[in-house]
Amino acid sequence: MNNNYKKKPESWKILGIEFAPLRIPWERRLQTTTIACFLFSMIIAMFVLIPVMSYILLFSKYWYIPVLCATWIIYDRKTPYRGGRKSIALRNNKIWHYYRDYFPIKLIKTTDLPADKNYIFCVYPHGVVSAATFLNFQSNANKFDELFPGIDPYIVTLNANFRIPFTRDLFLAFGGISASEESLLYCLHDKPGKSCVIMPGGAIEAMRSLPGTCNITLQKRRGFVRVALKAGASLVPVFSFGENEIFDQISGEKLFWIQNKIRKFIGLAPCLLKGRGFFQYSFGLLPHRRPIVTVVGEPISVPKEKYPSERLISEYHQKYVDALVSLFNEYKEKYHSKGNNVELQIE
Ligand SMILES: *[C@@H]1O[C@H](CO)[C@@H](O)[C@H](O)[C@H]1NC(C)=O
Repeated sequence: MNNNYKKKPESWKILGIEFAPLRIPWERRLQTTTIACFLFSMIIAMFVLIPVMSYILLFSKYWYIPVLCATWIIYDRKTPYRGGRKSIALRNNKIWHYYRDYFPIKLIKTTDLPADKNYIFCVYPHGVVSAATFLNFQSNANKFDELFPGIDPYIVTLNANFRIPFTRDLFLAFGGISASEESLLYCLHDKPGKSCVIMPGGAIEAMRSLPGTCNITLQKRRGFVRVALKAGASLVPVFSFGENEIFDQISGEKLFWIQNKIRKFIGLAPCLLKGRGFFQYSFGLLPHRRPIVTVVGEPISVPKEKYPSERLISEYHQKYVDALVSLFNEYKEKYHSKGNNVELQIE
């Protein structure tokens, strides 16, 4: 075999800009392309589609396109609250293998989940884009359906996402449902095995997710425990080691204050990403290729209470916090890049 193949491909430069090595295997190029398409289509959908649609409506002769989109959104407005519209073909698509192998992402099961119950998978940390949560639960690339037979997971996202044309249909196809009590209870009462995947940390946590840290927002997030009690659904602690490592962010206390004001206004986290750097090995702001391991812990059984008291909510909230902390401490040495030198900071 030619020895040259074993050498690491070298990058090349034009006018001081570094480009990807020409001999990168096709496999890696496909991985990068998949991640780029996925992330950019989400960004375009969120920040470009609404202004473009408004422009077409007001200033062009194709005004009927936004009107048709709006009619569809109004006609279909209940679906995000009624279990969504998951596409099995999309879930099983091979494209997610490229997404998985880019980082790569792993899914670790610690115990069986009986399919005669309903579960709320509470995933920490949120990270900037929840890359591993999406892949592990909304696609079958890491064999979720074989590891947890009979469990049918639905990912809970912001209501605002279901008001954007096209994006909403994509979110619904991925198994997205609305983040409201009504929507979660509908899903958990529908049939045994049907489950919700939530990231209680949300956008605040996204802005706090820096490589090498694990600062999570959990103390004041109690809504998911109330829903679990109302549905009698078991709480499953889940931790994604490495989710915080894939993007560098510009951060600071003053900046956080400004970002928080913007977040309250637009409902999304205005993260200032650094990623892999412009033009280097890619065509833009891509996440680092760093491993992520999602560990699914043991479920906590929760009694069914139609009107749960504050005391009961506190009790089960504390059980969840304890379970998450011990899951983190048990696996950090094995799966966190900083091993035992990282602490979980709970806010
Ligand atoms: C994480 O928490 C620690 C301790 O509370 C704090 O010193 C640090 O600044 C926090 N980091 C971020 C990114 O918020």
